Formats: sequence, C-alpha cells, structure tokens
Amino acid sequence: MKRDFVAETDFATKEIDRVFELCAAMKNKKIAPKPLAGKTVGCIFHKASLRTRISFEVGIAELGGSSLYITEKEIELGKRETIYDAAKVLSRYLAMITIRTFAHSDVEQLARHSEIPVINALTDLLHPCQILGDAFTIIEKKGKLDGLRIVYLGDGNNIANSLINLARRYSIKLVIGTNPGTLPDQALVKAAQAEKVGSVEVVFNPKEAATAADVIYTDVWASMGQKDLAEEKAELLKDFQVNDALLRLAKPDCLVMHCLPALRNAEITDSVMDGPNSVVFDQAENRLHIQKAIMLVLMDQKLLGT
Ligand code: CP
Ligand code: NVA
Repeated sequence: MKRDFVAETDFATKEIDRVFELCAAMKNKKIAPKPLAGKTVGCIFHKASLRTRISFEVGIAELGGSSLYITEKEIELGKRETIYDAAKVLSRYLAMITIRTFAHSDVEQLARHSEIPVINALTDLLHPCQILGDAFTIIEKKGKLDGLRIVYLGDGNNIANSLINLARRYSIKLVIGTNPGTLPDQALVKAAQAEKVGSVEVVFNPKEAATAADVIYTDVWASMGQKDLAEEKAELLKDFQVNDALLRLAKPDCLVMHCLPALRNAEITDSVMDGPNSVVFDQAENRLHIQKAIMLVLMDQKLLGT
C-alpha cells in the first residue's frame, strides 16, 4: 500500500524519528540514495513559492529524478475534470505528486484516489513539510523536542495548526499566543488536548506566552489567499510582534523561528530576525534535507522500519 504525507499525523512518532535520522544522514552526506532514478515527480503549485518549490525540485534532482512544475493553468485541478479522474491519470505517468493549494480537502481527495504517494506542500489548513523541517532544526540546535516550551505568536494559520499536530506526536509544551479573532483550527486543538501527548495552550497575552520560551515562532499575519484581510489582522495582532522587548522574556538561548517569507517589521523586527537567536535561514535550508527524507521513505517504505 502506498503511503502519503498530507498531515503530520500520517506518520507515527517512530516513523518521524526515522525521517529525522535519514534527513541527518543525507545532510551529512553519509548516504546519497537515488530512489527517483528514471522517475518523475509532479509538483502542482496553485500558490506562489520560493522555498518549497525550489527545495523540492533540487531535492528531486539530488534523489536522481526529474520534476515537472504544474500550475493551475495547465490542469485546472478539480475544474476541467474531477480530482478522481486527474488522480487516476497522473498515477499512470508520475512516481509521486507534491501539491500546494488552498483547500486541504482537495489534497486529501487527490491522495485518496492516487496510486502514487502525495505530499502536501501547504494548504490553508496545514504545512507539514515545513513543520517537520522545523522540528529537525530544533533537534539540531537543542538536542531534543520533548519538554520544550515552543511558543507560536501571531495568526492561527496553517503553521500554528501544523505545530498543534506536532504536539500530537511529541511531548512539547506548545503555547499559541494569538487574538480571540485569529484562533487556530479548534478541532485540531481539541484533538491534541484529548490525546495528551504534548500540551497545547491558547493564550491571549503575548508577554505571558513568551515568558521562559525555548522557541519563539512567528509567521505572516495574513497568509496567501488572505491578503485582503491584511489590515484587519495587523490591527488584531499588533501586540504579538516578535521584537526585542518580547524576546527578553524568553530564555536567553531561545530560538527564534519563522517559516518565511516574512513581512519584516510587522510580525518580526529586523533586529530579532537578524539577531543571534534567529535560526530562520537554517530552517529554510533544512526544508531541502527533510523533503528528501520524506520522499525517500515514501518511495522505499521499509526504511520507515514499521
Ligand atoms: N516557507 C515556505 O513554504 O516558503 P515558500 O512559500 O516560499 O515555499
Ligand atoms: N502561513 C503562510 C505560510 C507561508 C509559507 C501562508 O500560508 O501564506
């Protein structure tokens, strides 16, 4: 049975640990597998992308394969024909699909009907490749995930939701500092709180959230597809800016993270983003290594060891 990576919860904790091991082995050039030799991966992008698209395309080449960049114009997914029909046809040509789009349910449908692995390259709900890469970065810097106070400040968007899913796999202490008008997905919060692997707390006071943080993570206040809400969200979230005053409340060795692209001096100041606590460009680099590891295990599932 083929496997997909549409949500963080598609992998068990042990499987994610294995992805981290393979990621480190490839990053350190201990292994250089070519599971995509002679194969093509379809990269469907309905939204802009710098990091995700380029790291996938480079990663596919490094794994020995070819990539095909497909925009909305070419296939009009779900409009020109059903997602079911598109999934069946794409499965006859490609070895794997990675897709960035709006509705999470479109990616779930594509995965359900494809006979090849489907990887979520960001939806309005989740950004799982990002969060696995970020978790790997945290482990590189702190040696662990479990027990860390990871504070997300800002809009309750796909990044916040994916961090919540991370708390369903690792015993992190996740604190979401946001406005009552910009909450993360409530079903995911409830699921994480019921499962009690990590803890998830939503607070409305940015100072309370940032206090004693091991990691402070932020993201744009208006995500792709929501730019018309930018002013409204900026007003709701202005107290959640990651700046020097807020960072002083965290632990001295607190990591500052941002998935990028950033709107500098809105959700994060230049001084923090370019300061000594920031690991934003390490995060960006690790997108390449983690996606290679995700593609590797989906092409060769026995590597997952489960
Ligand atoms: N972090 C991230 O996914 O960046 P892009 O939107 O540029 O791919
Ligand atoms: N929340 C952002 C993340 C971009 C990588 C967005 O969806 O636009």
